[in-house]
Amino acid sequence: MDVVTFRRASTGDLHALVSLERQVFPSPWGADTFDATLEDPRCISALAVEDGGLAGYCLALDLSSTVHILNLAVHPAWRRRGIARRLVREVVAQAVESGKTCAVLEVRTSNTHARSLYASMGFTHVSTWRRYYTDTDEDAVIMVKDLRSRLPRDVWCEVVQNMEVARSTFHLILEGDLPQALPGQFAMIRVSSTSEPFLRRPLAVLGQKQYKTEFLFKVRGPGTDILARKRPGGRIKVLGPLGNGFGRTPALHVIYLAGGTGIPPVLSLAETMGRGIFILGARDAGDLPLLDRIHSIPGTRTVLMTEDGSCGVKGLATDALAEVLSGIDEPADAMIYACGPGAMLKAAARMAADKGVGCEVSLEERMSCGFGACAGCVTKTRNGSMRVCREGPVFPARELVWD
Ligand SMILES: Cc1cc2nc3c(=O)[nH]c(=O)nc-3n(C[C@H](O)[C@H](O)[C@H](O)COP(=O)(O)OP(=O)(O)OC[C@H]3O[C@@H](n4cnc5c(N)ncnc54)[C@H](O)[C@@H]3O)c2cc1C
Ligand code: FES
Repeated sequence: MDVVTFRRASTGDLHALVSLERQVFPSPWGADTFDATLEDPRCISALAVEDGGLAGYCLALDLSSTVHILNLAVHPAWRRRGIARRLVREVVAQAVESGKTCAVLEVRTSNTHARSLYASMGFTHVSTWRRYYTDTDEDAVIMVKDLRSRLPRDVWCEVVQNMEVARSTFHLILEGDLPQALPGQFAMIRVSSTSEPFLRRPLAVLGQKQYKTEFLFKVRGPGTDILARKRPGGRIKVLGPLGNGFGRTPALHVIYLAGGTGIPPVLSLAETMGRGIFILGARDAGDLPLLDRIHSIPGTRTVLMTEDGSCGVKGLATDALAEVLSGIDEPADAMIYACGPGAMLKAAARMAADKGVGCEVSLEERMSCGFGACAGCVTKTRNGSMRVCREGPVFPARELVWD
């Protein structure tokens, strides 16, 4: 596969931009509008280029303290590869670099894909402009993202519950003033007030309601062992939410794939999106937490797989995935969201690529800082090395280099 590269636009890209715009939008900008925008010194831009062809672009205008995202387009042949997300990130990064404090955009009410993408990147719906699009009389949803550099800060939380819900697996509920997390985001937990262990431990956010934040963790070593012994009333410092969540692309067939310690982000996503198939793999029946909750995800069928056959079907989660994929006629209608052991993710990524189905995976790389400062969690992608804590932990599967 060719590598997608990202760069800024220039007037030399005019022809390619106009041509892609025409393929993507029913009421495209004309060459004059592109020309004027590219010539405007306030223009901020990002292009995705693969094999010399224009895969996508994002154009924005620098308006005093705000960046206004004007246009985002990805060529149909390059969709479902995380390119739109990366383009918005590139533009936002340039805006942050030049001191902007806010990003704003408008999107058609009917464009649920784009709205989900922006929401997953931290944009919030602040107002609706009635009949803004004159071609269809459609409303525009106005979305805003606060760009002020907010270094993550530790928040003291109180343990409300810490209950063993499967073998060595604990359902932890903390109360504290943590900002709202998106499905797939995680927090760094300081398990001890002493220097042992020194590093915080990353855990995906399972759920959040009012001031309560839930986690589900498996005891692996000293850090999670200390955490398992926390009792209600105890206090813990939590840094988060961190990283980027799942894209939440609406699809006809949504496949949630979870195994091992990968249940929390996938369950959180399934509880937000619903309507899909939830494949859960485990070693045996003792390793299957929160089954009642998984069974009650709205509109979602659960497939349980255990390696010894002690619950559900004997086999691997990816065996079930293969069967589900074989029943899908239109790959473009399907999307896989996965988290779990590396071997499971690698197999899922391969199957998704073979079938042409979109797939996002959440990686569980070992972490030190959790917010991009130490480069201790890099993973190889087709666009170079990326920090799992900052650019991930969710990545489009096909962008990763699977060793
Ligand atoms: C973004 C992210 C989200 C995570 N979410 C969850 C979650 O929701 N629930 C959960 O139970 N766990 C989750 N993990 C894994 C969890 O962070 C580790 O199990 C934990 O840090 C282990 O700490 P420890 O001190 O108990 O064990 P350590 O002594 O640090 O490790 C014990 C053994 O576990 C393995 N291990 C430790 N950390 C990792 C890791 N990050 N990836 C792969 N193997 C590892 C190693 O083989 C190691 O030898 C997540 C990890 C990441 C990066
Ligand atoms: S853990 Fe420090 S950069 Fe990711």
